[in-house]
Amino acid sequence: MKHEDVRTAALPSGEQVPVLGQGTWFMGEDRRQFQKEANALRLGLDLGMTLIDTAEMYANGGAEEVVAEAIDGRRDEVFLVSKVLPSNASHRGTLLACERSLKRLKCETIDLYLLHWRGGHPLAQTIAAFEDLIRAGKIRYWGVSNFDTDDLEELEAIDGGNAVATNQVLYNLTRRGLEYGLLPWCQSRNIPVMAYSPIEQGRMLAHPALIRVARECGTTPAVVALAFVISHDGVIAIPKSSAPQHIRENRSAVDLQLTPGQLAILDEAFPAPRRKRPLEML
Ligand SMILES: NC(=O)c1ccc[n+]([C@@H]2O[C@H](COP(=O)([O-])OP(=O)(O)OC[C@H]3O[C@@H](n4cnc5c(N)ncnc54)[C@H](OP(=O)(O)O)[C@@H]3O)[C@@H](O)[C@H]2O)c1
Repeated sequence: MKHEDVRTAALPSGEQVPVLGQGTWFMGEDRRQFQKEANALRLGLDLGMTLIDTAEMYANGGAEEVVAEAIDGRRDEVFLVSKVLPSNASHRGTLLACERSLKRLKCETIDLYLLHWRGGHPLAQTIAAFEDLIRAGKIRYWGVSNFDTDDLEELEAIDGGNAVATNQVLYNLTRRGLEYGLLPWCQSRNIPVMAYSPIEQGRMLAHPALIRVARECGTTPAVVALAFVISHDGVIAIPKSSAPQHIRENRSAVDLQLTPGQLAILDEAFPAPRRKRPLEML
């Protein structure tokens, strides 16, 4: 796998993955955008953002089809993440969902397979299915998404549960609650946190503090927002973009080191939590 010069974070196994990847939510919804979206992901790969996050939920499988097009002929460069819906996450349902995802992705293995959020099926069943999938070579690692600390503690207590390789959660400057409790919990166990919606789907970009820091750095608010998220140990960000200019911008966040003064401006505008807050999700 090649990562160009994108900094990496370690999975619990020690395997390195880039701290900046690419999301795919809302891709695959409009067939007319299919090639544009696949080209966007390919540009991101060229720039070293070789972790791609998708899910069976996105466009009902349509996003996985865009990913298949993007990684055609270059599967070896990519660390591929997909997710099973909670409603499918029984033992048998997980196995079947994974088969369907692999078919749409046109590949033999998903690198990291996540439970999208907690649902009604017992976690032990989902884990048993993940273990079967690893044994069969269909996935390499498994993880979870939208799990708060108490969910992770419950998971850890289940047989095999401590093999969890990632928790993918909502994290950006306007959603810092996890910095108290959840993030340190994961860091202490070397479980990477994958930050989704790292620029709050664009809603935070007009904030004056972000604009001020971006001006100081000669960059854009989105780049500052991403640099903030990935300045934390063990955090990987997965912004989604179908726009070449945005993808180039986002890539530059890896090389932006915010100064203590700039971090103080951001802290004042987006205060860090001082007590445990429930994990937010989108
Ligand atoms: N596990 C979960 O429950 C969960 C939930 C939500 C998301 N996710 C994953 O996380 C990924 C990222 O989250 P997200 O898509 O919700 O939100 P996001 O990455 O915070 O924001 C995406 C939006 O921002 C725009 N954008 C991207 N780069 C930009 C830039 N440099 N300047 C201005 N605008 C920019 C994109 O438009 P353009 O395409 O025009 O650039 C898009 O509209 C998702 O795609 C998905 O893979 C997971």
